[in-house]
Amino acid sequence: MKKFLLALAATLLISTPSYAAQGDIAFPSDPAPKETLTVMDALTFRQSSRNFVDKDLSTVQLSKLLWSANGINRPDGKRVNPAAMGVYSVEVYAVTREGIYLYEPENRKLKLIAAGDYRSTTTTGQGFATKAALNLVYVETPDAWKSARHTPPPRERQISFANIAVGAMVQSVALAAQTEGLGNCVRGSINHDEFKKIAKLSDDKTILLAQSVGYTK
Ligand SMILES: Cc1cc2nc3c(=O)[nH]c(=O)nc-3n(C[C@H](O)[C@H](O)[C@H](O)COP(=O)(O)O)c2cc1C
Repeated sequence: MKKFLLALAATLLISTPSYAAQGDIAFPSDPAPKETLTVMDALTFRQSSRNFVDKDLSTVQLSKLLWSANGINRPDGKRVNPAAMGVYSVEVYAVTREGIYLYEPENRKLKLIAAGDYRSTTTTGQGFATKAALNLVYVETPDAWKSARHTPPPRERQISFANIAVGAMVQSVALAAQTEGLGNCVRGSINHDEFKKIAKLSDDKTILLAQSVGYTK
């Protein structure tokens, strides 16, 4: 009986979203690649979903999705998705029922930016986004180029590179979502002004794309 209760407590700890606390969300480790769905399976079934149900994701699921979007996969700090000249100029914001968070890959955590349900700020009126457990917002940050080892390209090219990088990021998230049985939809329709204000984005940052992820009907 004691063993059963311990197992039950462990299961609850894993499946209960710990982000209800409205603080930063720490991810204990990056996910281990042990999924059963093959990449070819995931590509075969890939599609946009818009029939989300408002059901929270577990911290482990959040960790997997954020890692797929912008995580580090090598000891030298390089990431899951490619970036022009190795400059990671795209930040990923996670918007859940509980708040807006900035993903910090080096610290393996979501840093709380604003507590509260701001999912509606990630869309210009597509209701499904306000139901999706997670809305990712991809933001270009020119500051990243300060650490470039070579002369940075002109600003226009930097934005172009960031847009291309986001293409890889959203596709990685789409594939990872499928391994969790979750749907996703990439979205260009974003309430830029509202999100910029609530997420406290500085004026030099550019919102590029959003992506809804979550359980579907
Ligand atoms: C850059 C980009 C922007 C998109 N913006 C939206 C959007 O704002 N809202 C939406 O519902 N779908 C959006 N989509 C999803 C497309 O509508 C969808 O991929 C397309 O209709 C093909 O359907 P499928 O993904 O199911 O194959 C976007 C896709 C891309 C690549």
